[in-house]
Amino acid sequence: MARPKIALIGAGQIGGTLAHLVALKELGDVVLFDIAEGTPEGKALDISESGPAGGFDATLKGTQSYADIAGADVCIVTAGVPRKPGMSRDDLLGINLKVMKAVGEGIRDHAPDAFVICITNPLDAMVWALRQYSGLPHEKVCGMAGVLDSGRFRHFLSLEFGVSMRDVSAFVLGGHGDTMVPLTRYSTVAGIPLPDLVKMGWTTQEKLDAIVQRTRDGGAEIVGLLKTGSAYYAPATSAIEMAEAYLKDQKRVLPCAAHVDGAYGLDGFYVGVPTVIGAGGIERVIEIAMNKDEQAMFDKSVDAVKGLVKACKEIDGALG
Ligand code: APR
Repeated sequence: MARPKIALIGAGQIGGTLAHLVALKELGDVVLFDIAEGTPEGKALDISESGPAGGFDATLKGTQSYADIAGADVCIVTAGVPRKPGMSRDDLLGINLKVMKAVGEGIRDHAPDAFVICITNPLDAMVWALRQYSGLPHEKVCGMAGVLDSGRFRHFLSLEFGVSMRDVSAFVLGGHGDTMVPLTRYSTVAGIPLPDLVKMGWTTQEKLDAIVQRTRDGGAEIVGLLKTGSAYYAPATSAIEMAEAYLKDQKRVLPCAAHVDGAYGLDGFYVGVPTVIGAGGIERVIEIAMNKDEQAMFDKSVDAVKGLVKACKEIDGALG
């Protein structure tokens, strides 16, 4: 049986890391697409040459032609610009919206059956725009944010508790921005909710609040350290977890920016929610009960995303 075909649109920091991970995990053959001549070809060749030592079989190709993504099973989109210190994700909107138009039309014309994972920021608005431009079914277009945000939360919690990251599960809802909603009540160490761990003396409420804030600022912390771009190892690894769930029909329960129609009182809107990812794409959106405070935080986050979508519509009236 032929290997799955994975198209990576954008061959920058995240795109290159994605290609390397796909190869190492033998998830499929890779097409790296980028407008920058030489970059995707160079990365494809470099990773291919790591195959003998890395011990994998995969074909990697770099290209500037959308025709080469034809028949892709998965497209992961990182095309666009990342932020620099002092910039918010929202500052990228104008430039990256134009990129989403080109990419959406390229996917529509050449890989309309793919499962599409968007990583380009500002995430929730960009995945909405990408879906509009591509016209693909809503369940086949989603955005990677929740796996990364909850991964950061899990990492910080594991440091605080001195336990394995694997035994910490965490829950982050809402938009991928300063208003994201890390839900402590639904986050656990081996099933023990965080509020109980405070009562057990494992941490204090103040420390937990600081960890929640560090999670919200997780992307900016990396941008501040790197100075020349934004995070790429964790974003790439998170998107690979989602792609694998689709390709292997794992029915993983993963938070991601999904089209929510009905649940959470939303009427056809992309925002971060827990989902089930399997061969059907986003097979289910899981609606959890929120208390008053959580609902207020979620509403604030949804409003922030709505503002960005409105800004997209103002830039391109055709987006409707
Ligand atoms: N089509 C294809 N590729 C494009 C286009 C386009 N229209 N416009 C830009 N690119 C390419 C650039 O040439 C570059 O190689 O997108 C790549 C982006 O790579 P980086 O600048 O290294 O950015 P990266 O760190 O990978 O982040 C990409 O993901 O997390 C988000 O905020 C981040 O929006 C940013 C995106």
